[in-house]
Amino acid sequence: MRILSGIQPSGALHIGNYFGMMRPAIDLQGAGEAFYFIADYHALTSLRDPVALRALSRGVAVDFLACGLDPSRATLFRQSDVPQVTELAWILNTVAPMGLLERAHSYKDKVARGLPASAGLFTYPVLMAADILIYDSDVVPVGRDQKQHVEITRDLATKMNETFGPILKLPEPRIQTATATVPGLDGQKMSKSYGNTIEIFGEEKETRKRVMSIVTDSTPVEAPKNADASAIFQLFSLVASPNESAEMRAAFEQGGRGYGDFKKQLFAALWEYFAPFRQRREELLAQPDHIDEVLAAGARRANSAADDVMGRVRQAVGLR
Ligand code: ADP
Ligand code: TRP
Repeated sequence: MRILSGIQPSGALHIGNYFGMMRPAIDLQGAGEAFYFIADYHALTSLRDPVALRALSRGVAVDFLACGLDPSRATLFRQSDVPQVTELAWILNTVAPMGLLERAHSYKDKVARGLPASAGLFTYPVLMAADILIYDSDVVPVGRDQKQHVEITRDLATKMNETFGPILKLPEPRIQTATATVPGLDGQKMSKSYGNTIEIFGEEKETRKRVMSIVTDSTPVEAPKNADASAIFQLFSLVASPNESAEMRAAFEQGGRGYGDFKKQLFAALWEYFAPFRQRREELLAQPDHIDEVLAAGARRANSAADDVMGRVRQAVGLR
C-alpha cells in the first residue's frame, strides 16, 4: 500500500495541521510505503517571497521530523524536487472539465479571502491530483477540507483511464473523524488564514496568551457549561488522557469553575504534550546536514517512483 500526503509551507504549522494531517500520516508510516512531501509549488499560489519560501520549506521538514516522521520508514521530500509532477499536471489539465474545477470550494474560498485569482490557484486541484497520481497512491491522509480535492483526483484519474486506457490508480482519502476539523481560538476551523491558530512550536508566552484568548460565551462561573460547544474542551481532549477529558467534562457540567481556569489547564496540557517534540526539534536544528540528507534521499526515491508512472502516461498519451 502506498500512502501519500503533502503540506504547504505557507506559514508556521499549527495544531490543526498536526491533529488533522501530520499525526494521521505519522501513524500510517509503518503501514505501507509512505511518501510525504512539502508542497512548495502549491505554496507559490499564495507566497511570493523566495527567501521566505525556502526557509518555510525547510522549516516544515524539520517540524515534521520533530513530530515523529521517521525517514527510515517514510520518504520525505520537496514537491519541486520532482518537477515531473508539473508535466503530469499539464496532461491532466488537458482532460480536466472546466465545470469540475469551477465547483471546487477552495478556489472560491481563497479568492473570497483575498488571494489573487491566478490560473495557478484555479488549477491547484489539478496539481494536487498529479501529486497523488504520480506515485500510484492508494491512501491519502488529510483533514476534512481536502476531501473534495481527493474526489477531484479520482474524477481526473477516471477520465484519463477512460480516454487512454487503465494507467492511473484511484486513491482513497483517509480522514480521521475525531480530528477532522480542529477548532481555532474563535471556534471556527483552525487555519493560518483566519489568524486563529495555536502553533505547534510557538514561544511559551505567546502560546499561553493565545490559549487565554480563546473566545467563550458569557456563562457565569457558577453555572453549568456545555463542554461539546467549547473549543477549550475540544482542544483539551486532543492532548489529554480519556480520564482527564472526562474530568474536565464533568467540571464543565457541574459549574463552579470559570473558563479562565479551564484555559490554564488546557495550556498546561498542550505545553506538556508537545514537550518531547520541542526537544527533538532543538536536536534537529543543530544538524542541518542531516535535514539536507533526508530531503536528498527522499527526492531520489520519489523521482524513481514518479518516473515509473510518467513512463506509462507518456506512452499511453503518445508522447516520445
Ligand atoms: P491552513 O488551513 O492553516 O492553511 P492547510 O490548508 O495548509 O492549513 O492544511 C494542511 C493540512 O492540515 C491539510 O491536510 C488540512 O486538511 C489539515 N488541516 C488544516 N487545518 C486543520 C484543522 N483545523 N483541523 C484539521 N485538519 C486541518
Ligand atoms: N492541498 C493540500 C493542503 O493545502 C496540500 C497538498 C498538495 C496535498 N498536494 C497534496 C495533500 C497531495 C495531499 C496530497 O493542505
